[in-house]
Amino acid sequence: MAEKKEAALNAMSISEMVDLCEGLDCWHTRPYPTHGLDSVMMSDGPHGLRRQPEGADNLGINISLPATCFPSSGTTACSWDTELISQVAAGIGREARANGVSLVLGPGLNIKRNPLCGRNFEYFSEDPFLSGKLAAEYVKGMQSETSVGSCLKHFAANSQEYCRFSSDSIMDERTLREIYLAGFEIAVKEGKPRAVMSSYNKLNGVHTGECSRLVTDILRSEWGFDGLVVSDWGATFDRTEAIKAGCDLIMPGGSHYGRKRVLSDLKSGKLTSGEVRACAERVASFVSKSKELSFVPCDMQSNHELARKASEESAVLMKNEGALPLKGSACLIGHMAKELRYQGVGSSHINPTKLSNPTDCCDYPIAEGCRPNGETDDELLKAAVELARTVDTPIVFAGLTDEYECEGLDRGHMRMPDGHCRMIEAVAGVNPNTVVVLLCGSVVEMPWIDRVNAVLYMGLSGQAGGEAILNLLTGKANPSGKLAETWPRCYDDVATSEFYGGKDALYAEGVFVGYRYYDASGVKPLFPFGHGLSYTQFEYSDIAMEGDCVSVTVKNVGDRAGAEVVQLYIEAPKGDIPRPCRSLAGFAKRYLKAGESARVRLPITKRSFAIWHEGAWVVPEGEYILHIAGLSLPYTPDCGVAVRDDSLSGTWYANPVGKPVPQDFERLLGYKYEVHEKVPGEFDLDSSVYEMMPCSGVMRLLHKVIAIVLSRANHCKRDMSDPTFRMMMSSASGSAIRNLCICGGVPESVIELLVRLANKSK
Ligand code: BGC
Repeated sequence: MAEKKEAALNAMSISEMVDLCEGLDCWHTRPYPTHGLDSVMMSDGPHGLRRQPEGADNLGINISLPATCFPSSGTTACSWDTELISQVAAGIGREARANGVSLVLGPGLNIKRNPLCGRNFEYFSEDPFLSGKLAAEYVKGMQSETSVGSCLKHFAANSQEYCRFSSDSIMDERTLREIYLAGFEIAVKEGKPRAVMSSYNKLNGVHTGECSRLVTDILRSEWGFDGLVVSDWGATFDRTEAIKAGCDLIMPGGSHYGRKRVLSDLKSGKLTSGEVRACAERVASFVSKSKELSFVPCDMQSNHELARKASEESAVLMKNEGALPLKGSACLIGHMAKELRYQGVGSSHINPTKLSNPTDCCDYPIAEGCRPNGETDDELLKAAVELARTVDTPIVFAGLTDEYECEGLDRGHMRMPDGHCRMIEAVAGVNPNTVVVLLCGSVVEMPWIDRVNAVLYMGLSGQAGGEAILNLLTGKANPSGKLAETWPRCYDDVATSEFYGGKDALYAEGVFVGYRYYDASGVKPLFPFGHGLSYTQFEYSDIAMEGDCVSVTVKNVGDRAGAEVVQLYIEAPKGDIPRPCRSLAGFAKRYLKAGESARVRLPITKRSFAIWHEGAWVVPEGEYILHIAGLSLPYTPDCGVAVRDDSLSGTWYANPVGKPVPQDFERLLGYKYEVHEKVPGEFDLDSSVYEMMPCSGVMRLLHKVIAIVLSRANHCKRDMSDPTFRMMMSSASGSAIRNLCICGGVPESVIELLVRLANKSK
């Protein structure tokens, strides 16, 4: 195969190689049949296959062939079950294979640093270890069982949607390594994905796909990645720089994007043919590997069953004062009982093969309680309350509607729709046995929590959610999920609440992300990371070191079968260097019958204790404490070294109580970062319509034209309350204006003229 690829490249002209490194259209690589290279197809994931019909472009986001909609990654992460994640990925892979898709664009493993990120539902966790392990199993499950490749995304430091095409993620090296790269590192080393997708954002001033330190030095040289680096769709700003950095495939294709420039840079010597050939070789290898795919039909019914299993095993029983499992009579309340909210909006949107709503799975009476948009009124509430009085247990379905959770848009607050809260409070007011089934892909405030008996968090449960919910409520299935992110009481309690969501993303909280902040600051969350109840109980005993593993015995001491997630945290000794109080270093899920026990062994390595310090991983010396459930064990690694660094003494990082201020961040970075907003005269092809609109009439007009074109192309109303339309507007108007020539087909000369006009505005 290597020889064939070599021969193909030797026969190609340099300009053919430049073309090979750019997609043919939205979803295919360019074919070179005379050189033995086919066109291969890729489609979106991560929780199902979004294969668009031939001829469609990625603007018609919801138009795709039917596929199984599994629970979204933010939900399956709560299973903490590597085997399950692997099975789900294999299920998606089987559908991809049956559809001729060679690469699935997922999983996404960006870190959830703030609850408002509109894409949190697509990401696994606030913790890099958990994210990395789950992503690695996803990749292994898909690639080993089906030969379909999977693609980690979005590399890297891409944790906000606001200004997603232009924002600059500003952070110090230690935070980058310990939090934002660590998950990718695990997934690359253990999973060996066929591809990695660069992100839209910049990292400390450089677009990630054009950053050779990230793509070549870290990803390829340090971590040993030998696959394809593909740009996110429209994320290439300077194609010469992308090639130099080792970003191999520029997507989508369709407009000879940046080609002219690359050819002239080759002529002038700014770019070498060797650099182009290196990218072309990796595209050719990727194409050759993809050719091995053979058609096997997929059993869609068994994938639906798998989606149900995944949903059941990912549900988190947040609170239960005895109402669950159900006893006696019950009723369903809330529009979402009839029309389940089961997935988020954006490029991950799946056209499900079937859909089970709670009302389809039982014959409990129902009151709507609220409208589809989450609003309610006295009449709807009255009917809900009247019904709730007549049963032993009212079950209220509430959460977030589509407008709240959407790619390309961050949430404006952490509250649920007002109507949902009113509905819960009204029902709980007449029946203290109220159960809430929570349907949302990320954290919400729960001002009503003390008034309800039980809360079952289903996340975004996929197409079989209705069946899973009923099985869990009735006790046919036993909840075993654990939260993969902390649920704070209110948005003010979040470390980043005061500075998240600006044009540039300032990672001023450093390594104190998620539970690392709540532990250190003493702010008590509503539900901590790792929390989740069961209908049975587990007891732990006999923690000990056994070789390189921390071992513990876990026993199901209740009267029904269930699963427990054993979680190992390592507490660091106090030293000069600010460190989180503890970090997750191992986990395993075990299914145990009533009365059964198991010895669970969790491996630890030098890295489990290490921090990134002065360009290397080092283990600060001292006595660490290993924690599993209520048990603890002191442990002193023999690789500890003395680490002295008081550069952060006296700053927030030394005592992370309250919120960091700009002076703290300046000390962390070692320089003062100021956000720069471009003004007329400074605009270029990287500027967005949104950026130029405030001072340019031409751009305001262009914005209107974009709205008309997008609504026509998608047969939808020009209505900003439609999340898909809003997302498409934000993609077209928020990305670099040069992207209007991709798919949009606007000639580059016209775009250049528009930018010249914007630069002249007063
Ligand atoms: C998203 C990616 C997605 C790609 C193709 C981008 O806008 O960020 O996650 O895979 O589009 O649809």
